[in-house]
This record gives sequence, structure tokens and C-alpha cells, in this order.
Amino acid sequence: MRSNYCGELNETFIDQEVVLCGWVHRRRDHGGVIFLDVRDREGLAQIVFDPDTRESFALAETVRSEYVIRVRGSVRARPEGTINKDMPTGKIEVLGKELEILNVANTPPFQLDEHADVGEDVRLRYRFVDLRRPEMAARLRFRSKVSITVRNFLDSHGFLDIETPLLTKATPEGARDYLVPSRTHPNRFFALPQSPQLFKQILMAAGMDRYYQIAKCFRDEDLRADRQPEFTQIDVETSFMNEEQIMSVMEDMIRVIFKEHLDVDLGAFPRMTYAEAIRRYGSDKPDLRIDLELTDIADLMKDVDFKVFSGPANDPASRVVALRVPNGGSLSRKVIDDYTAFVAIYGAKGLAWVKVNDRAGGIDGLQSPILKFMPPAVIEALLDKLAAQTGDIIFFGADKASVVSEALGALRLKVAQDLGQVKTGWAPLWVIDFPMFERVSDGTLNSLHHPFTAPSCDVATLAANPDAALSRAYDMVLNGTELGGGSIRINKADMQQEVFKVLGIGPEEAEEKFGFLLKALSYGCPPHGGIAFGLDRLIMLMTGSTSIRDVIAFPKTQSAACPLTDAPGIVSAQQLRELNIRLREVEKPAS
Ligand code: AMO
Ligand code: AMP
Repeated sequence: MRSNYCGELNETFIDQEVVLCGWVHRRRDHGGVIFLDVRDREGLAQIVFDPDTRESFALAETVRSEYVIRVRGSVRARPEGTINKDMPTGKIEVLGKELEILNVANTPPFQLDEHADVGEDVRLRYRFVDLRRPEMAARLRFRSKVSITVRNFLDSHGFLDIETPLLTKATPEGARDYLVPSRTHPNRFFALPQSPQLFKQILMAAGMDRYYQIAKCFRDEDLRADRQPEFTQIDVETSFMNEEQIMSVMEDMIRVIFKEHLDVDLGAFPRMTYAEAIRRYGSDKPDLRIDLELTDIADLMKDVDFKVFSGPANDPASRVVALRVPNGGSLSRKVIDDYTAFVAIYGAKGLAWVKVNDRAGGIDGLQSPILKFMPPAVIEALLDKLAAQTGDIIFFGADKASVVSEALGALRLKVAQDLGQVKTGWAPLWVIDFPMFERVSDGTLNSLHHPFTAPSCDVATLAANPDAALSRAYDMVLNGTELGGGSIRINKADMQQEVFKVLGIGPEEAEEKFGFLLKALSYGCPPHGGIAFGLDRLIMLMTGSTSIRDVIAFPKTQSAACPLTDAPGIVSAQQLRELNIRLREVEKPAS
């Protein structure tokens, strides 16, 4: 039907006849000549119709935006002065000879140019139009190419692409499950996998040695800009490799992807322990493009009169931390108040600060609401410890350690963004030596990764002090985003049972939920480990998109719905009866 894509035309095609198919991006009538910008997946080309080709010219007058047309014409150089440098095909145009309208179109719900300010709901409802926008098409093309690189890399390293079921049993990764009722087993439900975790481990028990899958995962959790209820993982598992070897291969894969598709050399990935990441950055996914760091100052604050600081300074479960921000001295009271409200989201009860107006001026050179509570010697020691300089602002957090780390960690990112202190480029790293468990508010322990992650200690040591146990997990972080996470797994039943016990999963529950895994571990399961990367997040970062939804063809909204299809939908009474399901009245939220 066509000879070429619009976007691939250039000067080498001059004097050639081409047949193009595409959508009318724009029509302009200029003194007896009609210009049509025609668009397809690969780009735009300008077609010119003049009145000499009378029939086509008359037809060209009738076309509207987004009509689908087929054009036969010859490529020619654009006349001097009409060259469009912003357009890849801007040096040529096609003199139209024949025009065929393949389909008409309603007036599009929004303009298709890049800067059109369109609500996301409309974009998603009319996704078939939205995806025609060149930058959206480019992102999907990019995603497809990266997937091919991933497949080629893993294939050449001996990984087998193996599919695992979507209708399965709960695979816990810390979110709620999406459930699917079974018709043939009344009152029973499948769960959609939160990840292929258990199946890939069982494939290792089955001797597949190396597995990968570009896998859909489903998690019913609160959504954010980098989270979707249905997302895609590059999921990998291997036997007989330790964490160093796995990290090394996976780091190579990410390097190859960046080299091939962005021509970027990522270099070696630094390693940082979880403890160090939390201490210096207040986060287990530190953005290393930002130089700002947290400094613990509890040692200085143990005896000050300011209870807000001295209390936490004397409590081992708390932190007192300073965040020195060079050139932050110019921040206004209003901005500081906004930051105080911002850290409150993370539970911080306040945000003390000191402005260093003149470092040489000693205490007189400072401005702050808290100095009156502190002896001069402490203030001097503090300024020395922080290497404070004229022009700085120093923020403080004092509270339970987790509150301070989260609040000041988030503030670090926000202030750096506001003050333009985020460097450009790429800052990858591995975070290692995570704790096995975290204590949650009701006092019980939760897995920091998932319950199948191996600890770095033996069963007896784990049982004696689970709070202190570290895991053999590793996360890959890029520019402050957790790109992937993995670990060496538990491959022995006794250790797996002990971890279940620590998590409060008794033998019966363990058998009911994970009996198949325990069995697989008992029939000769090799040492194994793996990782999964968020493909959507990877593409989001690589394409500089601000939302994960911009790199997914058909994403869900913040409330996990699909405006295009109007899913989730209601089902017929008949279907419900077959599934043995009776609906309950939904309580209306108080208005
Ligand atoms: P984890 O839960 O860390 O590990 O997930 C791995 C990676 O998947 C991405 N990701 C998401 N992306 C978009 N939307 C979401 N809701 C979402 N949740 C996670 C992140 C994350 O780093 N089975 C383990 C992996 C393993 O141990 O091998 C797992 O799923 O980029
Ligand atoms: P107050 O004595 O409560 O007026 O607090 C004096 C200063 O300390 C104010 O700037 C508060 O924002 C700040 N502040 C209060 N609680 C904390 C806290 N937990 N961490 C850091 N700063 C705090």
C-alpha cells in the first residue's frame, strides 16, 4: 500500500516517486497551494498539492485533521527559505499527484502537538489519538528496542525465556492481591502474581539453571508516579551464582542498554550498604546526583536545654540530624514554612533551621529560632562538624530514627530540586546488606524484601536475633529510583521454615500457602538467586518521562481504572451466579 514511512524521507529520495500512508497532522491553504503535514509512526512529511493536479487538489481541500490518507507523489527539495530545521524531513517535501482518503475522522478531542495541555483522563480515554503524538510513539518504539536488547543480552548469556502462570496462588511482595474467582472451584480464587518469584525459584529446583521473562506483575497498592497496578518486570533467576556474580552480569546488562540506546557509559556501579545509605541520605534509594548529606549530631546535643533535640539525642532508637544546604541562606520564611509542612507529611513535628549569614561573625553571624537553647560551644562545634559556610542554611530533624531519615531524606531531594542542585547525568549504585526484617507499628516483623530472601547468617543465629539479621539482597538504584531488586534465595526448607516462623507464619499456614515451595526445596534445590527490574521505570528514566504512564501503552489512572475501556466494569447477574458470588451493597462514602 505504501513505499515508505513519512518520517524516513530525506534528501536521498529527491526525484523519487513515493507512496505514503498516514494521518493528516495539519492542513494549510496558501495562495492556491495546499500543504498537508502527514504523520505516521516514524514522523511527519510535508505534501504539497497545487491546482495543476485538479482532482487531488479538490480532494485535498476536503481533508480534515486525522483523516487517514494515501498519497502518491515525488520528492523534491524545498525551495530556499522554506527549509524547516526542526523537522527531520524539513529539507524535502512531496509534490502530491494522487490522493486517496482511506478514512475520515471526527474532530480530535485535543491537538496532537507536544505542548497541548490536555487532562490525563481525556488522553487515556482517547489513547488511540494520544499515542499518535510523535513523542508517545517514540517512547513505545524506544521501549520495544530496549526489550530486544534485554532479550538478546540474556539469551546470549544462557538465560531461557520461560512463561509462568498468571492464574496462580498469592505470591507475596508486600501488596494486596488481585483476585480472580474460579467458576469450576466455587468459593475459591486465583491470585494474579505480584511477581513470578515462586515459579522462577521452582524453575531453578527443576534444573532450568538460568531463566528470564519479561513478565506482567499485578499489585493492588497505592499508586504514585512510578507505580502501576499492572506493570512489567525484567525477571531473572539463576542457579549456582553468588550475589557478586549476579550483580556483575546484571550491571553489564544495564550498561549495554544505556550504551546501545543512549550512547551513555554508566561506568562501574558503586556499592553502598543499607546502613550507610540511610545514615547519609535518609533513603535506601539515594539520588547520588545530589551532594547534600545528612550528618548525625546526637553526640553534640545530648546535654542541651532544647528538649526537642536532647530527648532523641539520648534515645538509641532516635536520630538527631543536620542537613547543610550551601546557598540555602536565601530561602524565605514562606519557603521554610512550606518545608516544615512538607516534612510533617513524614511525621516530623517541626523543622528547626539555622542560617549562616556570616561564618566569620561567630554566633552573631547566625539567624535561627533555636540558638537561644544552646550553649555557644555547642553551636561552634556544630558549625565545625558541618563545615558550615556563609550563605548556608542548616535544617534539623530530631525524632524516631525512621521519621528523621524519611523526612530529612525527602527534604534533601526537594531542596536540591528547588535550588537547582541536582546534577545532570546518571548516578547508578547497588544498595546491599539490607536488614532481613523491619519492625512494623504493631511490633511484628515484616520482610524488607520478600520472605524467600536468604539471610547472611545461619538458622540458629537468625532465630536468636532476627532484628539484627542482614539479608543477601541487593537493589539497583538509578537517580533516586529503585530500578531493580533481588537476592540470593533460601534454598533449604529448614531456613525457609525459620523465616516463616519469624514472620509469624505458623507451620500450618506455611504448609497451606507455600507447601509447594517447601516441597521443592526438599527435593534437591540448588543454590540460586535472581533479580527483577521494573521495565516501565527503566524506560521512564531513559526517556526522561515524568510519569510511568507515559511509557505504557494502556496504563491505569491513579485510582487503578482504565478510562479507555471503562474497566473495571460491572458483570451480569448470570456471571456472578456461575461464580457463586453474591454482591454486597456498597457503603456510600459520607458526602
Ligand atoms: P520488587 O518488588 O522489588 O521485587 O520489584 C522489582 C522491581 O519492579 C518494579 N516495581 C514496579 N514498577 C511499577 N509499578 C509497581 N507497582 C512496581 N512494583 C515494583 C521496581 C522494582 O525494583 N520478586 C522480586 C524480585 C526478585 O527478588 O528477584 C520483586 O518483585 O522497579
Ligand atoms: P518550638 O520550640 O516547638 O517552637 O520549636 C522550635 C523550632 O524547632 C521550630 O523551628 C520547630 O520547627 C523546630 N522543631 C520542633 N520539633 C522539631 C523536631 N522534632 N525536629 C526538628 N525541628 C523541630
